[in-house]
Amino acid sequence: MSVVQGTARPAPIPVEIGGVRGGPPRAQILRRDRWWLQPLVTGIGLLLFIAYGVWTAFRGDYYFAGQHLQTHYLSPFYSPCFVQSCPTDVVWGPAGSIGAVSPALLILIFPMGFRVTCYYYRKTYYRSFWASPPACAVADVGSTKPGGVRSRYSGETRFPLILQNFHRYFWYVAVIFAGILTWDAIEGFRFGPNGWGLGVGTIVLVINAVLIWCYTLGCHACRHICGGGVRKFSKAPVRHALWAKVITPLNAHHQLFAWMSLIWIAFTDLYIYLVASGALHDPRIF
Ligand code: FES
Repeated sequence: MSVVQGTARPAPIPVEIGGVRGGPPRAQILRRDRWWLQPLVTGIGLLLFIAYGVWTAFRGDYYFAGQHLQTHYLSPFYSPCFVQSCPTDVVWGPAGSIGAVSPALLILIFPMGFRVTCYYYRKTYYRSFWASPPACAVADVGSTKPGGVRSRYSGETRFPLILQNFHRYFWYVAVIFAGILTWDAIEGFRFGPNGWGLGVGTIVLVINAVLIWCYTLGCHACRHICGGGVRKFSKAPVRHALWAKVITPLNAHHQLFAWMSLIWIAFTDLYIYLVASGALHDPRIF
């Protein structure tokens, strides 16, 4: 006669019905996997990017590899360049009215606002930096209730987290920035006063623009703007095609593009910094 082992059912977990959030109390974390690994790695990744972003924003130089190198590469951290100190080849708008300040400090407010309020990044920093909650089925650190939540948890229903709802408006600004970075990638094909060509820096800028579009169009707000509020998709074939064939597939990989675009922005800036400062030669393909 065979004996089946390990079939004993675990004791039921009490759940606070109607509570703010359910889940096991801290003493009964059931997960035995390394649930802490993902918040740890993503938290380190975000901190590294923040450190790099602060360095490059305050750096204020070597963000444009221009005609003295026969190239036209502008760092995405400094685009659009609209202060007095911008090189004449890339300056935008009424730059004379804004004094000597690193343009990145003014520009980054908008893309950072978009990223900080992004649904994916919210999940990441809520888990990594606030441990609220640190992972699925793991109670908040500092929880005092049986349901595993903090005693004064109000989610995103009150100030300041209610401001996360501005994400849909940041999306419109993000589309403008994606267009500007696309223009910068096209400008990356310029070599010399009147010539065109292809350098490694051009490819770096093109990949940067493509990743920014993949991230921006995969936004949950974008998916709603395109596909939401339509009673019959048969009456909106263009919106349906965009929603089904472009935005939804990108949305399914939003986390991937969030990281790829973030890392590539930093890489693009670093590449241009090295080329502009003379530390690296930009190989020309043709
Ligand atoms: S949800 Fe991530 S960019 Fe909108």
